[in-house]
Amino acid sequence: MLKIGIVLGSVRQGRNAEAVTNWIYDFAVNRKDAGVDYEIVDLADYNLPFLGAAVPEAQQADAEAAIKGWSEKMASFDGYIFVTPEYNHAVGGALKNALDYLNPELNNKAAGFVGYGSLGGTRAHENMRLILGELQVADVQTAVTFSLMTDFENMSEFKPAEYHAGNANGMLDQVIAWSGALKKVREKQEVNA
Ligand SMILES: Cc1cc2nc3c(=O)[nH]c(=O)nc-3n(C[C@H](O)[C@H](O)[C@H](O)COP(=O)(O)O)c2cc1C
Repeated sequence: MLKIGIVLGSVRQGRNAEAVTNWIYDFAVNRKDAGVDYEIVDLADYNLPFLGAAVPEAQQADAEAAIKGWSEKMASFDGYIFVTPEYNHAVGGALKNALDYLNPELNNKAAGFVGYGSLGGTRAHENMRLILGELQVADVQTAVTFSLMTDFENMSEFKPAEYHAGNANGMLDQVIAWSGALKKVREKQEVNA
């Protein structure tokens, strides 16, 4: 069984990320890929402090539990789909901070992107490719890129055009193939360790 985490990469109140994440989750589940399990991971459920920032004593136990929960959840997947908006031509700060907590949890795994923005979130995707390179994640070529102008009404009501299904299928095919291949790499590394 391959486990793919769909990471909802915005914590902004009123975020568009929720509708986009639900769309790609439903799309993926409806493909009925044999032996593949999808799960949404919502950054907002973790309430992570800024990495290294002082946390008031009364909040420390909650912060430690959130960090541990985030690390364990992300470690449990074989691959990821990052749903990310574009903030100032880059990935949002909440997702970057959350990724800064991780490293071995992600090594030798695969990732694909679903984005949205004035240019489909593509600059955030390119930013993600730099970050994930350092974390030894193999990011696939095909991405899903929703336009805030044409795939949303009033930039807030998600009404995706049908043609995105082609890239969604391509991205999922690649993530599944590479997640399966890299799982074997990790298993071989464990045997040799
Ligand atoms: C601080 C900030 C910076 C933004 N910068 C960009 C940008 O550089 N390019 C872009 O396409 N959209 C940009 N946007 C628009 C966001 O992509 C859009 O608001 C999107 O809905 C944000 O995702 P969310 O609703 O899931 O938080 C920006 C929005 C904010 C709040």
